Amino acid sequence: MNRGMNNVWSLVLVSAIIYGALAILMGVVPGMVLSRTPPTVGSQPYTAQEERGRDIYVSEGCEYCHTQNVRPLKQDEVFGRPSTAGDYAYDTPELLGDHRNGPDLTNIGGRQPSKIWQYIHLWEPRSVVHGSIMPRYTWLFAVKPKADPGDEVVPIPSGFGPTKGVVVTTTQSRDLVSYLESLKQVSLTKRTGK
Ligand code: HEC
Repeated sequence: MNRGMNNVWSLVLVSAIIYGALAILMGVVPGMVLSRTPPTVGSQPYTAQEERGRDIYVSEGCEYCHTQNVRPLKQDEVFGRPSTAGDYAYDTPELLGDHRNGPDLTNIGGRQPSKIWQYIHLWEPRSVVHGSIMPRYTWLFAVKPKADPGDEVVPIPSGFGPTKGVVVTTTQSRDLVSYLESLKQVSLTKRTGK
């Protein structure tokens, strides 16, 4: 092999070593450290129903418009306290999101504790928030001529419901809303026992 070719190979080798070292330093090591972060004191694992709701949240693409990541910035204070790594201990993968077409939902269960509001809003966002650009999720509900015993009827504001019949919740809408209601930040002062 001539001298020039030797130089090429050492260049490839050195670049590969540097690239590999950086990948370990900036990707693998932080990942290992963060995955050992204990859950924030007081936070709870998801129930089976909340877990199913989380799957619906993912499959309906809610995270394309909603973050779950309160940044330590003045403009984020309306959403809650800044998020910490321990808040995500039960979240794999974390649904941080990277677009805020709608508000951050990290603490939506604390900010909007009404299940009824959540149902109405999912059926038709514009019936409760004028001019909302959020899509409606009508397929998470059932429309029936009349309610059967045990049905949970959603009180849709007039003009926004079906022309005939009533709107009732389904397992899907109940699971999704139970997930939304579980999104509650726990206070960090608990950590120090204050
Ligand atoms: C195309 C973007 C978009 C998608 C997709 C979307 N949303 Fe929204 N969402 C918004 C916008 C914009 C608002 C603010 C206006 C409103 O309240 O309707 C909002 C508001 C909300 C709110 C009220 C937040 C608050 O602070 O009052 C909740 C809860 C919510 N969305 C849940 C969901 C869920 C659950 C899904 C998936 C089933 C979803 N969104 C999908 C855009 C979106």
